[in-house]
Formats: sequence, C-alpha cells, structure tokens
Amino acid sequence: MHRRTIAPGALAAASLLLAIPASAATYSPGAPGIGDPYYPMYGNGGYDVSHYDLRLAYRPSTDELQGTATIQARATQDLSRFDLDFLLDVSEVRVNGARAAFTSSGEHELVVTPKNPLAKGTPVTVVVRYHGVPSTKSAYGFNTWHRTADGAVAADEPEAAWWWFPSNDHPRDKATYDVSVAVPDGTQALSNGTLQSTVSQRGWTRYNWRQDKPQATYLATLAIGRFDITTGTSEGGVPVINAYSRNLGANDGAARASVERTGELVDWLSGYFGPYPFSSAGGYVPATTTGYALETQTRVYYSPKQFAAGSNTSVVVHELAHQWYGDDVSLKGWKDIWLNEGFARYAQWLWSEHEGEGTTQELADYVYASHPADDAFWTVKPGDPGPENQFELPVYDRGALAIQALRNAVGDRAFFAVLKGWPKQHAYGNASVADFEKYAEKVSGKRLGTLFDTWLFQPSKPAAPAARAAAVAPAVAVRMAVRGGRAPGATFRRISPGAGTTRTQTLLQR
Ligand code: TRP
Ligand code: ZN
Repeated sequence: MHRRTIAPGALAAASLLLAIPASAATYSPGAPGIGDPYYPMYGNGGYDVSHYDLRLAYRPSTDELQGTATIQARATQDLSRFDLDFLLDVSEVRVNGARAAFTSSGEHELVVTPKNPLAKGTPVTVVVRYHGVPSTKSAYGFNTWHRTADGAVAADEPEAAWWWFPSNDHPRDKATYDVSVAVPDGTQALSNGTLQSTVSQRGWTRYNWRQDKPQATYLATLAIGRFDITTGTSEGGVPVINAYSRNLGANDGAARASVERTGELVDWLSGYFGPYPFSSAGGYVPATTTGYALETQTRVYYSPKQFAAGSNTSVVVHELAHQWYGDDVSLKGWKDIWLNEGFARYAQWLWSEHEGEGTTQELADYVYASHPADDAFWTVKPGDPGPENQFELPVYDRGALAIQALRNAVGDRAFFAVLKGWPKQHAYGNASVADFEKYAEKVSGKRLGTLFDTWLFQPSKPAAPAARAAAVAPAVAVRMAVRGGRAPGATFRRISPGAGTTRTQTLLQR
C-alpha cells in the first residue's frame, strides 16, 4: 500500500525487487538425503513431517496398489523444491492445494516443485496420488515388497516405505499415521496401532488403522492377506491385536504358542523398561518366505520360519524389547544401531535367565569364549559397524556383551535405573550412542569412556572379558546343544552365510 504512493523513478526499481518474495534468492532446493553417512540419499532435507494419511486400495490378484498420501509437514528452510522417497507411479502432486510439478530422479527420489516457494517454518500439506505394482519396482537392484499367495507385506529395514507410500524415509523424521486400506471382502488389511473401524461396500472392505504416537518410516507396516485375527488385553492393560495367515501349515501352532504370549511379555518387559509406550501391541505372521522378524511399531512382523523349530518366545521378547529400544527411542543415525539390536538381544538374555536357560552372565561368557581373538567377529565395532555390518551378529552379540560389561562396571542398581530411565529420557524421540554414554555416566556417576571405547569401538577382542570365568561356558553350550541349536541368545538367523535373499546380497555388496 505504501509503495503505491511512491513516485516512479529510482525507487520503483527497488519496490519491484521487493514485490518478488523478499528473499527469493535464499529459497533453495531441499537436499535429496537427510544427511546420514551410511545412506546418503535416504530421507530428505528441508522439511519435517508430522503426519501421514494414507488412503489405499490393494488387489491381491494383480498386486496393484493405488493410493492418496496426504502429508502434513513444516518447512525447515526456505524451500524452492523438495524430495520425497518413493518408487510407485505418481499421477498428481498438490502442495498447499495447488498443483505442483514433479519428476523422479536418482534411485528413489520424487522431486516436487511447488507453485509457490515455501517459507521456513510454515506448515505444508502435500497430496500425492499414485498407483503401481510394487513387486515390479526396485532401487539399487533390490525390492523388499513381499508378495504372498493371498496378498503382500511391507516390512523391511531400513528400506520398506518406498514400495507403498511417499515419505521422508529416515528414522530422524518420525510422524503419526492414519492408514486406511480397502481390500476385497474376505481379505484383511493390517497396519500399525489400533483398528478404528472397518467399512464394507461394493465388495470391498476398508480397514482404518491409526498410529497415534510418532513412528519411524521403516516401522510402518502393511500386510494384506487372509488372516485369523485375535484380540485381547494384557494383565497390565495393553490392548493386543495379533494376526496369523491361514497358510502357516505346520508352523501355525508354534506361531500362536509364541505370539499369543505378547501381552504377558509386554508386561514382563515393562518391569525392566518402564510403561509400554504405545496404545496397542501385537504381531502378525504372514506366509512369507523370509527368515527374519522386524519390530514394526506395535505390530511386529514375524516370518513363519521363526517358529519352524517350535515355539520361540525369545524372538517375541526381542521384537517387543525394540518397542522401547528402537521404536519409542529411535536412532539418530543408522550408525547408532547398537541402541536397537544390542538391547533387544540383551532382553533375550534376561528372558533366558528368567526361564532358567542360562543367566545373562553365562550367555555373555559363552559369547566371549565362542569367538577367538582372530575371529572376524571382533573386527566389527558395534558402536559404528558400517552399513555392511549393520545387522550382522557382532552388533547383536558383541553388542549385548557390551551391555553386560556396562552392568558389571556400574552395578545392578545403576544399570537397571539406566535401562528403565533411557526410554523415559528420550520418549518418542531420537538418540545416539554418544547420548547413551552420557546418560549412563550421569545415572551411574562413573566415567565410562574407556569401557564404551573398549566394548563398542575397538576392532579387536577386549582383553578383559565381561565374564568372570570362561569356565561356565561349556555348561551353557551343552544346554544349547540339547535345545537343538535354538539357543536363547541366537534368535536372529537371517544373516548367515547363504541366507542370501536377493536383497541381502545387495545389502552386503553396498
Ligand atoms: N531389526 C530386525 C531384528 O533384529 C532384523 C533386521 C535387520 C531385519 N535387517 C532386516 C528385518 C531387514 C527385516 C529386514 O529384529
Ligand atoms: Zn532386532
């Protein structure tokens, strides 16, 4: 208004410049990666997502997925354009209501250029309409979408989201989710959190799931198929929803004998880790051919193979422990994976002790004694294993050994205070190994730099075992042999020589 009254002339040029967004020159593209050195292109820069609303429809017969994602975010810089991570075919993108230009780039980037640049700090609504056949899409030569005889499953780590929704795909950007999935009548659709409602019409049933607590993208899961769904409430009051494929064959009994104990095990773990952080718990067992389990938030993914030797409560304890260590408190960078896997393994050791199948100290002694000093096992640093070793045995077993060493150094009182205090300290957030070290020092009042360096960051076998005497190891070994190799501390079987799914091989090659 004021400008209009200024006479033409030298000042006019200046006011013209002002008519362009004052700082147009400072609007720049968001980075194509969030800045994780292990995975430079994962996640994106320039915005922070608070909520994903996914409205989907899926046809099991053809593997066709169609969806509309409405993403609530906030710009964290003056943005001229930004990326999402996604592989399916996009037909339309709108930003704050206006049609936006979009193109794909790199292995999994959807590049969005909004009509109007986005000022730092402002709320942004992004609508992405899409469709595609997830099983036909790959990035870096792999595909983690699992088709089954009656549907499909999205559950993988770190890459799962690209095949079913556009996202800022890194655990540092957590958000809440509403996932609504329409499937043909008679088929079920599962996701995280609580089932708000189901609606049937025109031969399709829509399942409306809600995750009301922040969730990392790799912890979002989708499962479609014919499931038997069970519901209940734990003694401590946590609602439990589990699901079993109708095609589990001989593994059906053992799967149920394990996963139906979810409520009991959530309550038991609460004794160590504090109140369960989410509004529901549970797991599902689809008829997939993979070997692993995954801690998908509130709704754990289990491969049927986990139950091939009979009931396996140890894997249930592992995945439920992740609900505190990994899901509630998520890693800041993928190098911090010890905060997930070391603690989930240690929880299995605690369960083993509870079950009279070896104490945590016995298992630590056994792991220590099982790997001679020249074993490559000791060259992996659990505190910074590198992407190629992120899910290898040392992160789990040497990682749990480090936790036993910490316990022995600070004493049980401080140790269990740390175990329970940590999820509270960083509830629904992110933290690093360095943050954990600081926290353990604060709670214990001890300097722990040398201990952490020795057990987590040296590429060699620590001289001083967490163990007292390696002499106890043989007894434990015998007990494990008797159990047919299904050692309580050895649930994780996916990465073993020859376990090679295509994807595993690719991961190892990277
Ligand atoms: N985090 C999973 C667990 O320990 C294991 C895992 C590692 C995994 N990489 C994976 C699972 C890839 C699925 C896909 O429970
Ligand atoms: Zn794990």
